[in-house]
Amino acid sequence: MKIFHRCAAFALGIILSGCGTSPSFLNPVSSIAEHEAKLYNNILIMALLVFVFVEICLIWILIRDRQQKADDTLPKQIYGNTKLEITWTAIPVLVTVVLFAMTVQTMKSVAAPAAAASDINLHVIGHRWWWEFDYTDLGIKTANELHIPVGATVQITLDSIDVIHSFWVPQLSGKTDVVPGQTNHMWLTANQTGEFFGQCAEFCGTEHAMMRIAVVVDSQDRFDAWVANQQKPAPQPQTGDQQAGHKLVSTLCASCHSLNPAETETKVGPNLAHLFSRSTFAGATYDLDEANLRRWLHDTQPMKPENDMNLKLTPQEIDELVAYLLLLK
Ligand code: CUA
Repeated sequence: MKIFHRCAAFALGIILSGCGTSPSFLNPVSSIAEHEAKLYNNILIMALLVFVFVEICLIWILIRDRQQKADDTLPKQIYGNTKLEITWTAIPVLVTVVLFAMTVQTMKSVAAPAAAASDINLHVIGHRWWWEFDYTDLGIKTANELHIPVGATVQITLDSIDVIHSFWVPQLSGKTDVVPGQTNHMWLTANQTGEFFGQCAEFCGTEHAMMRIAVVVDSQDRFDAWVANQQKPAPQPQTGDQQAGHKLVSTLCASCHSLNPAETETKVGPNLAHLFSRSTFAGATYDLDEANLRRWLHDTQPMKPENDMNLKLTPQEIDELVAYLLLLK
């Protein structure tokens, strides 16, 4: 009975994990995810048909032969049946060929389109444990939150500066590994506006689970407004606290973070020029607000253990940094 309870608890855990709103390619918002969902559903239907047919045959034989056993005679013994053997070889071969053809068709549909068809070029760089987004043609660098216009083809090149990560936004694209020393390519087109979440899909260390991606799919107008704002230089400090904070960012923080939105160098930490235009930070895992920023500046390690930021700041320095960083809309 104990084993039954354990199995039931285990099964319940698996079933309940399907609840909630985790992003799934079965709710596609891009042509790639649509192709993937279609293939998945077709294979599921074929597998169900095979399962139901085999189970019906099995149950039918069990019932039939159990009845015969009641009068203590053996069921009719059969050895070899050429027709039957050809049939049960041919059908699986046919099923496999159909699966192969459907898979190749899907692979062809999701393969990268010609670079000339590209509307936006994006360079994605994987870091332990956050994502850097470099809009090559627009002179914009940002982190963790990706903005793209609806309907545009986004050509993506992917690199890593440390270990292997994997870029995956289920409703928008398949996974593409992000490998140090090797540039990979992918593309995506979103066909509706909204915010869609993704996740690093290759185990990359302690904070692998805290390496999330938010993709904001905007109308073209809203995207253009976002681009115009991101291209502006970082806002200038006004008050004394803000000026002191700016000085700290330009000295203490400058070896890891840049305040230049068009920075070409790949830094250790995210670009801060328009930090507060984002709604999350630390790998899109914490809401970006004053309270969380204070906690983070006080000590980042309890919030995201083993991340590279390890500063001992005085309460006054924290106040000054917060005063300035809040400006960076
Ligand atoms: Cu990056 Cu897992």
